[in-house]
Amino acid sequence: MNIVLLGAPGAGKGTQAKRLVEAYHIPHISTGDILRAAVASSTPLGLEAKKYMDAGELVPDEVVIGMMKERLAEPDATKGFILDGFPRTTAQAVALDEALVQLNTKIDVALSIDVDSEVIVERLSSRRTCEACGRITTASEGEICSVCGGKLVQRADDNEATVRNRLSVYANQTAPLIDYYKGQRILVPIDGDRPVNEVWTDVKAALA
Ligand code: AP5
Repeated sequence: MNIVLLGAPGAGKGTQAKRLVEAYHIPHISTGDILRAAVASSTPLGLEAKKYMDAGELVPDEVVIGMMKERLAEPDATKGFILDGFPRTTAQAVALDEALVQLNTKIDVALSIDVDSEVIVERLSSRRTCEACGRITTASEGEICSVCGGKLVQRADDNEATVRNRLSVYANQTAPLIDYYKGQRILVPIDGDRPVNEVWTDVKAALA
C-alpha cells in the first residue's frame, strides 16, 4: 500500500504515520525527518535546507524532489510506503507520479487530516520530541521522556510566529493538492480534531 498523508503542520501526520508503520509494516518516509537529520549532520543538503526550515518556508522543489527520488528507489519502499510531508507543491506531486511510473507503482490513497489553525498553533507550541527515542509528546510530560528517560526537546520551527508562517505556506502551496488527489479519486478527508485513537479508527477504515 502506498499512502500519502496530507495535512497542515501539526495536523497529526507523524502521529498517525507511527501507527501505520506498526499496523502495515511499511516505511514511514518523512521529508521533515530526513531534512532535520541532514541539518543535524551539517551535510550540504542540511546547510542548504536549514535557512528555509527555520523560517517556516519550503525547501526548493528541485532539492526535495531529488532527495525523494533516491529514497523511493531504496529496497524497503518496494513493499509500500507512507509519505509524510511530501508532496507539498503541485510540482512535487507531478514529479512523484512520474517517479512512481518509472518504478511501476502509484499512490493508492491520499489521506487529508484536517484540523483548525488555532488548534494547530496550540498543539505545536506544546509539542516535544524525545531526543533519544524520537517519540512525539507534549510539554505537559515535563522535560524527561516517560518511556526511555531521554531529554524532551522543542523543534526550532515550533515557535508561534514560525508556525503561523508554516500555516500560511500550507494554505498557499500545499492545500491545492487536495484538489489534485480529488481529481485522481484517491482523496479521503479525515477529521483530525479529535482524540488520537478516534482519528486512528478513521484512518484504518479509510484503508480497509
Ligand atoms: P515537517 O517536519 O514535515 O513538518 P510539518 O508538516 O510542518 O508537520 P509537523 O511534523 O509539524 O506535524 P505533524 O502533522 O506530523 O503533527 P504531529 O503528529 O507531530 O516539515 C518541516 C519543514 O521541513 C517545513 O516547514 C519545510 O521547511 C521542510 N519540508 C518538509 N517537507 C518538505 C517538502 N516536501 N518540500 C519542501 N520543504 C519541506 O502532531 C503535532 C502535535 O500534536 C504533537 O504534539 C502530537 O502529540 C499532537 N497531536 C497529534 N494528533 C493529535 C490529536 N488527534 N489530538 C491532540 N493532539 C494531537
